[in-house]
Amino acid sequence: MGAFRVSLQTLVATVQSILASDKGLLAMDESTSTCNKRFAEIGIPQTVEFRRAYRELIISTPGLGDSIGGVILYDETIRQKTESGIPFLNLLADAGIVPGIKVDAGTTELAGHPAEKITEGLDRLRERLSEYAQMGARFAKWRSVITIGNDRPSLGCLEANAHDLARYAALCQEAGLVPIVEPEVLMDGDHSLQRCAEVTEQTLHTVFDQLYRQGVALEGMILKPNMVLPGQLCPAQSSVNDVADATVNTLFRTVPAAVPAVAFLSGGQSAQDASARLNAMNIRFRSRMPWVLAFSFARAIQQPALEIWRGEKSNTELAQRALSHRASCNRSARRGEYSAALEDR
Ligand code: G3H
Repeated sequence: MGAFRVSLQTLVATVQSILASDKGLLAMDESTSTCNKRFAEIGIPQTVEFRRAYRELIISTPGLGDSIGGVILYDETIRQKTESGIPFLNLLADAGIVPGIKVDAGTTELAGHPAEKITEGLDRLRERLSEYAQMGARFAKWRSVITIGNDRPSLGCLEANAHDLARYAALCQEAGLVPIVEPEVLMDGDHSLQRCAEVTEQTLHTVFDQLYRQGVALEGMILKPNMVLPGQLCPAQSSVNDVADATVNTLFRTVPAAVPAVAFLSGGQSAQDASARLNAMNIRFRSRMPWVLAFSFARAIQQPALEIWRGEKSNTELAQRALSHRASCNRSARRGEYSAALEDR
């Protein structure tokens, strides 16, 4: 980690400021096509102005900074302003929220590996990171996707994705940005909880091996994994405690203690399931975990608010209340203080 020693203190301080006071991350870094897809599902026009208005709704939610320490932005969003002309970055600074940026360019088919994906975006990444750092971003995100199926994931897919995540992370640290390393084992399919645990374990081993080989300072990164869950189509769905145990035991086997924080993606779970599962992990394992266990949800924080907003200005206040509620539920889950009763308030 020699080359990165100069900025390691800065990276550690960034992680601390994002996750201080039991706060977590809000991912609002949907690419244009993903954001349009979410809008289309509920009949919101898919234009740059509706995307801007929606992101303004999120960022200007009163009290957002009480539960959210960092937001992940997208290239379009980091450059945008409120309707009244205030740059989003200024609004975030006023709310005490650290800005980050998605820097991968999305996934594509991995050649020679049918039905498996590789993430693009390493070309010119050094220059792009430097531009984002100058704009004020203090951390970045790169998502790799691993699919469970017959003979999947292949070793070729795991190794290629882990290698790219590690190269991205090293470039981030060189630029003074904290890398969020996100290897997502998808919930798609009918696989069991046990199979997801095995694949997640193999994925994380491969990722940490590559992070080591590329000289990434583990103290200056955040891991963003999936929770260990049965596939969405698996007939045997698991209890909250079984998911908590399978997830944390998998992390114990694979994530070095030098990593300061694990912040889960939600991956298509319902908002309430995601909160309840994170809560159970923090209740059952808090005293034994070397890392902070937090959240970096997109859908599990945003979806209820998006469904209330539906592109109508008159729904903004109600939608912001729903967003703030989810953020606050997840902060409670970080403390192990979430309960279903909170949902009725
Ligand atoms: O890369 C994906 C997002 O950062 C997390 O999204 O919580 O909806 O899975 P999600």
